[in-house]
Amino acid sequence: MSSTDPLATEELIVKSRPTKNFFVSMLTRDIELKDAILDLLDNCVDGIHRQTTNLETEKPYENFWAKITATPDCFEIEDNCGGIPLDIAINKAFMLGRPADYQETHTDIHTVGMYGIGMKRAIFKIGKECFVYSNPAKEDKPFCVTISRDWMSNDEWDLPINFVTATKDGYGTKITIRHLNDSIRSNFSTESSTFLDELAGSISQFYAVILEKGFSVELNGDSITGATLSLLDNSSALESKIEPYIFKGEINQVQVEMSIGFRTRLKSERETDAENEQARSSEDAGITVICNDRVVLFNDKSYLTGWGRGNVPKYHTQFISISGFVNFRSGELYNLPLTTTKRGLDTDNRAYVYALDYMMEGIKKFVDFTNKWKGREEETNVMFEASTPARYDAPIKRAEAAKTFSAIRKHSGDGAAQRYSPKLPLPEEKNPKKRVTYSRLKSEIDELTFHLYPGIPDVSPSDIGNKSFDICLEMAKREQKA
Ligand SMILES: Nc1ncnc2c1ncn2[C@@H]1O[C@H](COP(=O)(O)OP(=O)(O)O)[C@@H](O)[C@H]1O
Ligand SMILES: [Mg+2]
Repeated sequence: MSSTDPLATEELIVKSRPTKNFFVSMLTRDIELKDAILDLLDNCVDGIHRQTTNLETEKPYENFWAKITATPDCFEIEDNCGGIPLDIAINKAFMLGRPADYQETHTDIHTVGMYGIGMKRAIFKIGKECFVYSNPAKEDKPFCVTISRDWMSNDEWDLPINFVTATKDGYGTKITIRHLNDSIRSNFSTESSTFLDELAGSISQFYAVILEKGFSVELNGDSITGATLSLLDNSSALESKIEPYIFKGEINQVQVEMSIGFRTRLKSERETDAENEQARSSEDAGITVICNDRVVLFNDKSYLTGWGRGNVPKYHTQFISISGFVNFRSGELYNLPLTTTKRGLDTDNRAYVYALDYMMEGIKKFVDFTNKWKGREEETNVMFEASTPARYDAPIKRAEAAKTFSAIRKHSGDGAAQRYSPKLPLPEEKNPKKRVTYSRLKSEIDELTFHLYPGIPDVSPSDIGNKSFDICLEMAKREQKA
């Protein structure tokens, strides 16, 4: 190399850092405001998971709350879910993306946070100035991280953190966003937008399980009730009754549990037509898919949950009473059937593919029942009266306790898989057919054939049997009339 070679004499550097502007605009481009806010709520739930290890109890989220205040001037989300630990705040929470070497000490937590981006993306989406206040459990000092309006446009990446005096009782986090972006402000005004109602609806559906299990969420002072998650169950000793189909199995470190059944009595065609007119007919029907307590699909009626696949018919209002729940749980988040956005179902996922066969088996059972009673729905009312709504997981617990599960011998999962397939009541045929069989001498059959079908070839013995029965019945009827 000659000494005049510029590359050898002078070391030049090419700038390749991302610009903040790029980050902020790219990150927020593809996320809807609603999903950004749900990301913040997911973090509250993650906070609970960090402290509560036993999620198997009836109400593991009891006494935990999140309060969202959204007005055109300010957005705030406050929770009592344990706060952001100082170490996590300093080393991880405000990084854009998960640092490669950062390992949270508590690994077996069933959190839904995955990519280390949700909180920042939501903040950038909503406004230009933000204060993240946290009073973490197990630390003595509350702190506040400030993202200033300047930071959004300057070249500095680190953020200031200050210890502050506690502004509220209990351990938790409060994220306050000011100087809201112009495109966001109108969404937070009830006069100009229905956004807040839609947000409440989404929280009610996507957090249905978490709300049912005790969590409380307020939006502008109104507490949100979770969507219904129940199925008709009957715990009596009756052999044939209305109760759900249940499946339990495991694959790839994911536990799969499902209950599929009826949420309400069968509706006659006239009734479903009437409900259709009110456009609320099928809202409550369908299959709900849950991952680590977070609803991923709510009342789905598409091929994703088995409708219109194999021998399962497509969803139709006739099946308005069918409902079901498929629950995936895992400490290994990446094994769950979640898409990268966390909001969709990953249909290539092993646990999903495994569960799908059983979803179809369960749906088919109740489709068949509905078809068999078609036109006679009222006759089934009394059977439905004997069953009462139970939380979606109660029939599974009941089957476990009563040991009514039966093992599935051949399946593609790991370990043991079991199911309970109920014996649903079948309609009694009002005028069933019965079989008449008898033997006679061939010579006698030939004689009768010659008498009934003279000159006609290929008359079978059963033709003769049918014909003679018909003649005899005809005679009997005539005599009765006379
Ligand atoms: N409300 C909260 N309560 C407790 N921890 C929180 C809260 N909000 C954020 N965090 C912490 O900040 C981290 C970063 O959040 P986020 O950007 O949403 O990424 P992710 O949830 O994917 O890790 C979370 O992992 C969590 O440790
Ligand atoms: Mg998150």
